[in-house]
Amino acid sequence: MGWKSLDAMATFLGLFLLVFLPLGQAKTENKTCPYRNQNLSPIEGWRSAEYCMQNKSDSCKKYILINTGWLNVTKEDGPSFCSGGCSDHTLAVLDCIKHVKRDYKFVNRANVQDLNDTIRNGCDPTQGMHKAR
Ligand SMILES: *[C@@H]1O[C@H](CO)[C@@H](O)[C@H](O)[C@H]1NC(C)=O
Ligand SMILES: *[C@@H]1O[C@H](CO)[C@@H](O)[C@H](O)[C@H]1NC(C)=O
Ligand SMILES: *[C@@H]1O[C@H](CO)[C@@H](O)[C@H](O)[C@H]1NC(C)=O
Ligand SMILES: *[C@@H]1O[C@H](CO)[C@@H](O)[C@H](O)[C@H]1NC(C)=O
Repeated sequence: MGWKSLDAMATFLGLFLLVFLPLGQAKTENKTCPYRNQNLSPIEGWRSAEYCMQNKSDSCKKYILINTGWLNVTKEDGPSFCSGGCSDHTLAVLDCIKHVKRDYKFVNRANVQDLNDTIRNGCDPTQGMHKAR
């Protein structure tokens, strides 16, 4: 392959990225309301899951759900995490992720259900732990 065809290929790739990717995004994804993004390709679903995690809440300053999936809620912070609205917000974000990418996996290999269980069990007063891992 000569330089000329390499050059042509680079140009083609550049055009492809420039023209088709933004178009695809604009058509299928809603960043402010990722909930609405359904039936996405795996990449789009993953990206929408990231948009879900952009949803921040005043009640969640310390424990913010990010793609590592790890909320290291200390025992001392458990009660305020659970009753201060942060657990509810985090569950809402998880719900959003579930809608856009059902099989989403966090970096620590946990999935939506794992985190859902951790938070709900941790905040369940009858379990007396008040601690989400
Ligand atoms: C995203 O959804 C919101 C709420 O329904 C809507 O107001 C907004 O126009 C949508 N944006 C796009 C790009 O579809
Ligand atoms: C989680 O937080 C506690 C308290 O801040 C800390 O002692 C512990 O090392 C943390 N766990 C990990 C895995 O970093
Ligand atoms: C953001 O989170 C709140 C809960 O704290 C939820 O009510 C709201 O629907 C979420 N917004 C989006 C766009 O997912
Ligand atoms: C968490 O689990 C409960 C009980 O199974 C379920 O009702 C809820 O929809 C789940 N939420 C998410 C975000 O998966």
